[in-house]
Amino acid sequence: MPPVTSLTAHVHQRLTTALTATLPETADADPLLRRSDRADFQANGILALAKKAKANPRDLATKVVDQVVTGDLIKDIEVSGPGFLNITLTDRAITETLAARATDPADRLGVPLAAHPGTTVIDYAQPNVAKEMHVGHLRSAVIGDAVVRILEFVGESVVRRHHIGDWGTQFGMLIQYLDEHPHELDREATADGAAETGEEAMSNLNRLYKAARTHFDSDEEFKTRARRRVVDLQAGDPHTLATWQRFVDESKVYFFSVFEKLDMEIRDADIVGESGYNDMLDETCRLLEESGVAVRSEGALCVFFDDVKGPDGNPVPLIVKKSDGGYGYAATDLSAIRNRVFDLKADTLLYVVDARQSLHFKMVFETARRAGWLNEETKAQQLAFGTVLGKDGKPFKTREGETVRLVDLLDEAIDRATTVVREKAAKMGLSEEEIVENGRFVGVGAVKYADLSTSAVRDYKFDLDQMVSLNGDTSVYLQYAYARIQSILRKAGDARPVAHPELALAPAERALGLHLDQFGELLLDVAAGYEPHKLAAYLYQLASHLTTFYDQCQVLSDANPREVVENRLFLVDLTARTLHQGMALLGIRTPERL
Ligand code: ARG
Repeated sequence: MPPVTSLTAHVHQRLTTALTATLPETADADPLLRRSDRADFQANGILALAKKAKANPRDLATKVVDQVVTGDLIKDIEVSGPGFLNITLTDRAITETLAARATDPADRLGVPLAAHPGTTVIDYAQPNVAKEMHVGHLRSAVIGDAVVRILEFVGESVVRRHHIGDWGTQFGMLIQYLDEHPHELDREATADGAAETGEEAMSNLNRLYKAARTHFDSDEEFKTRARRRVVDLQAGDPHTLATWQRFVDESKVYFFSVFEKLDMEIRDADIVGESGYNDMLDETCRLLEESGVAVRSEGALCVFFDDVKGPDGNPVPLIVKKSDGGYGYAATDLSAIRNRVFDLKADTLLYVVDARQSLHFKMVFETARRAGWLNEETKAQQLAFGTVLGKDGKPFKTREGETVRLVDLLDEAIDRATTVVREKAAKMGLSEEEIVENGRFVGVGAVKYADLSTSAVRDYKFDLDQMVSLNGDTSVYLQYAYARIQSILRKAGDARPVAHPELALAPAERALGLHLDQFGELLLDVAAGYEPHKLAAYLYQLASHLTTFYDQCQVLSDANPREVVENRLFLVDLTARTLHQGMALLGIRTPERL
């Protein structure tokens, strides 16, 4: 069963056919069709065509109009202004197309799959071992998760990679300290059989980190022992590795607890941190050096770029291998590219990483291109995101000037949301359990939506009051729109949503219907450009159309003939399903009762 052809695509087809009949030489000319407020659509393409054909645009437009078949799909088509076409559709075509979406046997609302799906490896949600997660990690996780869902929905094969920071010299100090104080990570919490919580794990790690740091800074001999540990770790000494693994495992307990709070599925198998590429580092360097892409400079293995210079005007290289023989962040990322391209067979590599790392990725991607690992068919792109700012417009910090812990921030969002939910709950007759669950979905949804509704590259202000507000472009506004429809459907008694194409539609119904019909094309566009914020904007507009519809059209009114009730139920039901699907793609829940 093919996906549903949208009204836009249908009209487009009609116009191109008419254009070709009028001007045969313009076989694939674009009629430049747009949604319009004056009619349903406006086509502006005739002007340019007339210019090319040296014809009068209004005459040409009139000739085209004569060629357009009307009646079934197009009710009216007329020339306006200098040669625009105003197009109005039949009510029947709108309702029938929506009905086809509603009954899509694949349950995809008639949304097509991408024409040429491929394999994308997406690098997102990459916190660092033994460290607290902060708002930057939030953005990567939230944006990455939405992009994964959207890509998978349009048929792309997606491989997720959580490139956690689990390697590096900082582990020498930690491992040495734990070795000297072996019981510091013992799980008191498990004594009573309960699993360790993420909070406990993080507080253990914090304590250990601080203690190790103090030793490292004050005790020269400890420092020497810690440095030796780095060498042991890199050499793969089994005992050292086992101690390192304890840190990784402890951190994962914490990570998983945060991701769970975020209502996000992160799979252990997809966590392939920096350490996962250790075996490839030597070869990566050898390949780069042999091909001449990297050269020795002051003992280090470096890649140079004409356009990357420091403040002193001297070139700043990408250092692949340090002069002491150690490998850094770049060597790992270059090895990861080889793995993703040649082993995972990806044709697209995405990196959802802070814009402050853009120079790093620019150099890494360029190096990989020079080495022939990336090319026209196999591309890499950073989905760079901006900084999260506080209400004061400065990078988001606690009052004490410290970075905000992600967990605290989520807890606060959930708290506020629960208050909002509770206020309305009594009227709805919600149980305490439902209030708590809704509070979570609304709070976490608010944080995700605020992040996803601004274009990723832009900085955004973290303002919880605004985020959980019932008015305006917020997730809770959309969640209420959804829940209100569910409530109407419950109240409808034995009236069911049924499409009645024979009915005339009110202007607000047409506007809602035409917007619903654009969902599929919008998603393809969102997927192609990795732009979840466009999906958020679409959903917000959908909810706004719904509000206007409620203002102008009563759904459950005794004054309405039965068919009108059914058709309006059908419209709101499809709206609810579209909202639900769209929000799910953003990783946001839509509670049935709110
Ligand atoms: N762990 C890094 C950080 O917290 C982000 C890793 C990004 N991914 C990558 N392949 N380098 O900043």
